[in-house]
Amino acid sequence: MNQAEKEQYLREYSLLKNEGKPFFPYAVAKDSIMAVIVMATIMLLSLLFGAELGPKVNPTTTTYVPRPDWYFFFLFEILRVMRNVPKFTPMATIGIPTLCMIGLFLLPLYDRGPERLITRRPIALASGLATIACIAFLTYSGANTGSPNSVSLPAPPGLTAAQRATFYAGEIVVGESGCEGCHEIGSNGNNGPGPPLTHIGAKRAAAAIASTLKNPTAPMPSFANLAKTSPKKFAALVSFLSDLQ
Ligand code: HEC
Repeated sequence: MNQAEKEQYLREYSLLKNEGKPFFPYAVAKDSIMAVIVMATIMLLSLLFGAELGPKVNPTTTTYVPRPDWYFFFLFEILRVMRNVPKFTPMATIGIPTLCMIGLFLLPLYDRGPERLITRRPIALASGLATIACIAFLTYSGANTGSPNSVSLPAPPGLTAAQRATFYAGEIVVGESGCEGCHEIGSNGNNGPGPPLTHIGAKRAAAAIASTLKNPTAPMPSFANLAKTSPKKFAALVSFLSDLQ
């Protein structure tokens, strides 16, 4: 802003100030009325519709899929894509959100242009739109991730229809058996304490996989019981793992 612009601005400001109304009581009254309307609307909605309650808490469930509320999906997604590199976890949970907050806080210090029209502020416009697009994309992908105890690998090409059916049946057994608490499979599961299984079929023969499942090294639990009680499920599991080339 040069000197002439500054004086022009101050002149307009004092003109407007003279014809305006004082903050108290005019603006305060308006705000109070609006606040009462908003509160009354919320109370009315809660009386009419009530708050949504989920099913009763069941501490013995093994199928519960913990998920944040929808407005946290973007943060959840940042954490999800970084979860297998423990070094980056603090960056995802604390680093990125804090840097964004600091950036917003310092905005009045680094954005000192006199323009107010958004079309004359291309950098502000572009970064605002980019932020909205990023959050929208992360929210969308965060909302559409599979549950942590599912496998999202497609069957490898070249399988017969029956083999594909067995492959997907095996994925379900993996989900039910909690393997992903300890093993990473594709983009699902935890990276440890067990080794990733994404290419286990290329490393171990089916017989070796089956014997590991029946007689594993601790802390891996034995699945000998599954082989005894549901041989079909066990066979699907072994076949699925051998197909992971
Ligand atoms: C409590 C954690 C845990 C669970 C649950 C678990 N594993 Fe493991 N698994 C391990 C660990 C740890 C090892 C490595 C053991 C070793 O050092 O030999 C391992 C090893 C393996 C291996 C051998 C890997 C190799 O390179 O030879 C296979 C195959 C395997 N697990 C499959 C499974 C499957 C399939 C399931 C689910 C049905 C499962 N695991 C469940 C912890 C687990």
